[in-house]
Amino acid sequence: MALLASRDGERILDVGTGTGEVLRQLARHPDRLQATGVDQSAAMLARVPDLPPGWSVRVADARSLPFSDGAFDAVTAAYLLQVLSDTDIPGVVGELLRVLRPGGRLVTVTPSIPPRGPLRLLGSALDQLARRHPRSYGGLRALNPRPALEQAGFEIAAVHWSLRGYLSLCVLARRPA
Ligand SMILES: C[S@@+](CC[C@H](N)C(=O)[O-])C[C@H]1O[C@@H](n2cnc3c(N)ncnc32)[C@H](O)[C@@H]1O
Repeated sequence: MALLASRDGERILDVGTGTGEVLRQLARHPDRLQATGVDQSAAMLARVPDLPPGWSVRVADARSLPFSDGAFDAVTAAYLLQVLSDTDIPGVVGELLRVLRPGGRLVTVTPSIPPRGPLRLLGSALDQLARRHPRSYGGLRALNPRPALEQAGFEIAAVHWSLRGYLSLCVLARRPA
């Protein structure tokens, strides 16, 4: 939320919204936002709590988002990219770019292995577990999204490590103006 730094009146899309955790956090924000969540799983969306008036969720595939070019000021994708196949990541990142207006912001959150420090070992162990048992633990796969974001045309504006809960890398990227 700190990296996103949402502003009054912004249109925000949360991709891979799941049970709506990001939407829940956005709804606590005092700004008057307009947020939409999409997920390919209707079962996950059924667990999204009541949202502020005008907010909505819908079933959609991140590989082909049902929104026009530049429809959003900001897009979030929390713990989505690492559950995709490596071959799907470029197409999804391209869709995240497409639906952002020029100058719009993207925040991604992915499990990651810290570059140094005592938690590096833990991050590596979780990543190995995810790769050995993808069906049960695939969501813990470490993924640095920066190369894919830059390749799609995003500019990386900031990165933040979250070492509470999942070891995660939060990336703020911009669609060039
Ligand atoms: C690990 S969950 C993260 C949920 C939520 N963003 C969070 O942080 O709690 C990943 C979500 O991505 C969704 N997902 C996976 N592939 C998708 C795709 N191609 N299009 C849309 N959603 C997808 C899954 O259904 C799942 O709800």
